[in-house]
Amino acid sequence: MLVLRHLTKTYHGARPVVPSVRDVSLEIPRGSFFTLLGPSGCGKTTILHCIAGLETPDSGDIEIDGVAVFSGASGCNEPPHRRRLGMVFQSYAIWPHMSVFDNVAFPLQQQRPRLAARDIKARVMTALSLVRLEAVADKLAPFLSGGQQQRVALARALVHEPRLLLLDEPLSNLDAKLREEMRVELGRLVRQLGITTIFVTHDQAEALTMSDRIALIDAGRVVQQGAPHDIYYRPNSTFAARFVCGGNIVPGTVVSAPDMQRQAEIDTPFGRVACALPTGINAGDDVNLVVRPDSLRVCNGDAPVDGRPNFFHVDISDVSFMGDFIEGIALSGSTALRVRLDPHVQVQMPHAAVVEVIAQRCVVLPRKE
Ligand SMILES: Nc1ncnc2c1ncn2[C@@H]1O[C@H](COP(=O)(O)OP(=O)(O)O)[C@@H](O)[C@H]1O
Ligand SMILES: [Mg+2]
Repeated sequence: MLVLRHLTKTYHGARPVVPSVRDVSLEIPRGSFFTLLGPSGCGKTTILHCIAGLETPDSGDIEIDGVAVFSGASGCNEPPHRRRLGMVFQSYAIWPHMSVFDNVAFPLQQQRPRLAARDIKARVMTALSLVRLEAVADKLAPFLSGGQQQRVALARALVHEPRLLLLDEPLSNLDAKLREEMRVELGRLVRQLGITTIFVTHDQAEALTMSDRIALIDAGRVVQQGAPHDIYYRPNSTFAARFVCGGNIVPGTVVSAPDMQRQAEIDTPFGRVACALPTGINAGDDVNLVVRPDSLRVCNGDAPVDGRPNFFHVDISDVSFMGDFIEGIALSGSTALRVRLDPHVQVQMPHAAVVEVIAQRCVVLPRKE
């Protein structure tokens, strides 16, 4: 188990001098695939570098398997090589003048007491076989493809059997197809090894597909934590909804007091939506309604609307063919919702339609801005 408690880190060269990591507390169970997700500049790499010992936090504690590796209070600060971690950097940081074998052997050659050459060879070849690169062991690193270089970096991180694997946006330099293949391969590999993995990404799809658990970071703070399903279906803030769900965020105002089941009505630019309110939101409050693509059903334009709650007339335009679905824009006046259409139904554009907002699949959040 990796535990971070109240971790704060400020770079004093930065202007303005504000903490890049603010009071971050996390518990990462042994063997889990844990993702730090957030926009560029939110502090993900800084958290990873604090765990690795490459940066020194201002305060807080870092503990691995019950033993402190950093403690602001006691002054304990283990150097990176004593933490037994493997790290893959965003840039891979592999040495261009060395062969694949020598790149992977490097961390073992630094170990003291020295390992026998035969043991080094056996361990390097095991690590290369994990990432399926035994055949190119003697090649110079620059002659490899981007995907292969990335696997060299992974083999080098794994060769000394680390307690934790730290991965900083390892897939972001790969092209789309390779990135998807590596998502699957990397997921399979770390699960097979059972190694605790901290994965950093700004890509919500990567985070949702690969992780056991996600911590969503905004401006140096953890703003939500949970399994991918929880974060996707129950974002706790407009930031989380925007970043993770990629859905429509519709501003509204609660116009009726919630009843016993907390059902109420919300006025939106589309019209009135009847839906359940979370506790803490009441009549008169300004809210954002999170309407993901799966919270909408598109019906024919002649479907009856009058008096039916949550059915609205729209015009659909700007469609894009996405393969297994068609994405379109449903306009009601000047307000737009992104909707998904059946690719097997041919329609003329623009196209009059009716959309149903499936209220139990929407999330109501307080609107502060
Ligand atoms: N070495 C540094 N010196 C000064 N500021 C830094 C340094 N590294 C990162 N920062 C600042 O800290 C913040 C977090 O950066 P970083 O951890 O790299 O974010 P992320 O990895 O999420 O993109 C940013 O505002 C960045 O500009
Ligand atoms: Mg980064």
